[in-house]
Amino acid sequence: MGICMRALIVDHAQPSGLRLGDVPPPTRGPGEVLVEVGAFALNNGDLATAIDMGDGDVPGWEAAGYVIEAAGDGSGPAVGTPVTTFGVTGAWAEYRAVDVGMLGTAPKGADLAAISTVPVAANSALRALRRSGPTLGRRIMITGATGGVGRYAIQLARMAGAQPVAVTRYPDEFADELRGLGADAVIADPADCPDPVHTVIDTVGGPLLVRAFDRLDNGGVLIALGHLATGAESFPRGALMAGPGQNRTIVSFHQFDGTPLGPDFTWLSEQLTRGALLPSINWRGSWQHVHDAITALRRGTLHGKAVIDLR
Ligand SMILES: NC(=O)c1ccc[n+]([C@@H]2O[C@H](COP(=O)([O-])OP(=O)(O)OC[C@H]3O[C@@H](n4cnc5c(N)ncnc54)[C@H](OP(=O)(O)O)[C@@H]3O)[C@@H](O)[C@H]2O)c1
Repeated sequence: MGICMRALIVDHAQPSGLRLGDVPPPTRGPGEVLVEVGAFALNNGDLATAIDMGDGDVPGWEAAGYVIEAAGDGSGPAVGTPVTTFGVTGAWAEYRAVDVGMLGTAPKGADLAAISTVPVAANSALRALRRSGPTLGRRIMITGATGGVGRYAIQLARMAGAQPVAVTRYPDEFADELRGLGADAVIADPADCPDPVHTVIDTVGGPLLVRAFDRLDNGGVLIALGHLATGAESFPRGALMAGPGQNRTIVSFHQFDGTPLGPDFTWLSEQLTRGALLPSINWRGSWQHVHDAITALRRGTLHGKAVIDLR
């Protein structure tokens, strides 16, 4: 490895707050592997946190690549293993040092672009679905359905025997695609759902969350996963009062709940590699064009994952 590596770094003088630059490669701690990154995915969250970082810092939460140096303490995967990795910084670079507890392995030949979308979007969808309890034969409403989390949630809900109801602002444009991923119904608003649902996985928040709560069946749960809408969550007076057969729950959600990440990252990477899950990458390109992806993500016009190929 050279004395410098290519990275997308914070530069507050740029309109986007980011630029391509050369920085020293990371040094690996005893419980960390060094990964040669092949692809990284972008999220609204890591773009937002980059604003608070210093000039020259390397942001980025999720990246996939190959282990090129195993952990010094003997833990974790061997050199040459494909891995997908999470961290609060450092994904948007050619090399990344990662704690062995923050990665999952993938089968040989895995598409690094596909598995780079596992740590945030796929993992959130999986863990949100688990919060819903038993899913077999139940209707699960998924808002923000064309997004990274939404598309995984539809597929995983279908795999888990549920009937996914997808909510998108653009049903005419995306209905066929979302049905192809496993949606039973595609609607423009929770209020359009004719039958009550057992679960809502809400990635939007605001007034839409309030309307989604209204469609919950007795015993149902709304999982408040995302907050993209700017409006407040104001419930009409009495909306949270339960009568007989009207018990419903709203739960907050964060995907990093203290349970081990590795097994879930590994299982999701296996599903992607054998084609049981689709990554729904809607923008894929070299990091020379990364600003196009950032603009689309910030404008909300991406409707899927954006992934940068490094090699
Ligand atoms: N709590 C956690 O642990 C956790 C983990 C991951 C993500 N998140 C959060 O979950 C949210 C979704 O993440 P994501 O990666 O799926 O985002 P994304 O890929 O940007 O997609 C979100 C989708 O939401 C819809 N949407 C966007 N802005 C909206 C608005 N103002 N009103 C109504 N709908 C809107 C869009 O779908 P349509 O155009 O089809 O309606 C969009 O495709 C984000 O807020 C993210 O920060 C939270």
